[in-house]
Amino acid sequence: MSIERLSVSNVRNIESAVLDPGERVNLLIGENGSGKTSLLEAIYILGRARSFRARVAAQVIRERAESLVVSARVASQSRAPVQIGVRLSGRHREISVSGQRVLSSAELVAALPILLIQPSSTALMVEAPKARRQIMDWGAFHVEHRFLDHLRGYSRALSQRNAALRSGNIDTNLAIWDQEMAIHGEAVADARHIYFEMLQPYFAAATAALLGDENFVLKLNKGWPTGQTLLTALAAEAQADQRLGYTGSGAHKADFSILLKGRPARLTLSRGQMKLLIMALLLAQVRLVDEQGEAGCTVLIDDLASELDNKNLKRVMHFIMNQPSQFFATFVEHPECAANVIAGSAMFHVEHGKVIHSN
Ligand SMILES: Nc1ncnc2c1ncn2[C@@H]1O[C@H](COP(=O)(O)OP(=O)(O)O)[C@@H](O)[C@H]1O
Ligand SMILES: [Mg+2]
Repeated sequence: MSIERLSVSNVRNIESAVLDPGERVNLLIGENGSGKTSLLEAIYILGRARSFRARVAAQVIRERAESLVVSARVASQSRAPVQIGVRLSGRHREISVSGQRVLSSAELVAALPILLIQPSSTALMVEAPKARRQIMDWGAFHVEHRFLDHLRGYSRALSQRNAALRSGNIDTNLAIWDQEMAIHGEAVADARHIYFEMLQPYFAAATAALLGDENFVLKLNKGWPTGQTLLTALAAEAQADQRLGYTGSGAHKADFSILLKGRPARLTLSRGQMKLLIMALLLAQVRLVDEQGEAGCTVLIDDLASELDNKNLKRVMHFIMNQPSQFFATFVEHPECAANVIAGSAMFHVEHGKVIHSN
């Protein structure tokens, strides 16, 4: 799957841009403030119907414009190309897939799996667990769409259980929500577990390529004590949960760590190595979705060269060149060090919100 014929209008400083990206690696080069991240933001909006760096659309819409529009033709090997588009105005969101209006962004997300890697992604392993659950669930969803039904069922039951805990009405209601949470929560945990088992070999291959070490291991924590069913754990913690006013254990507390020789990798790696490790994790996820999911991925990498020396930059560039996904990677300066990658890539220069194809 790849984006062809991308049109962007009124996204930050980009008034209007039309480009024909290559189906593999696209390099976007421009000075600070030229509009590179804005172009990635536009592509992200096309796949998710929201921005990654603004809560409200008004911030992303170009000053003095009413709405922004991003649209593209999405080609895939297995189906005819589909035209998708997103229009955001201050209050409205319009999504269209193949000329039909769709109300939920789920269809868009399934049609165009997008993964973003930005300089702040390096902090993934030290952030709150929510960020890690999001990235893990992104992969689990794209490999198996039914995962989302269980995740939603689980969240509904969890909010009901928390409401019951807060109301003090636990004798009559809690058992019902415990049952519901247990069914969906066990399914969510199983799907995450299977997903990580599938991911591990891709992760080992990616860390071997980027860090020269294939011994990094993903370790999943399902969110309640191992050896217990979720139903037992919930029943055992009911009284403590009532004092807290919320549910302390369950699939909503899942997390994962990355171990090297049994110890958390983040304790021993340098910042640059951490960047490579997170890239290896995210690119392994992308590769797995490319091979197992319904649609191939589009990967957005903002400021790819930041924190990398020339040797490591070259490694990353070679690695992505050998992946089947479509990449959009931004650079402040021309990445001279990887000449043969550049030769096989499409290159665009971004200047004052204008995007110019340059090879
Ligand atoms: N809503 C907006 N309307 C117009 N310009 C904007 C808006 N939001 C940000 N900008 C401007 O867009 C420019 C491009 O930003 P950005 O894409 O982050 O640049 P970079 O190339 O460094 O990634 C910045 O100069 C910023 O001031
Ligand atoms: Mg930027």
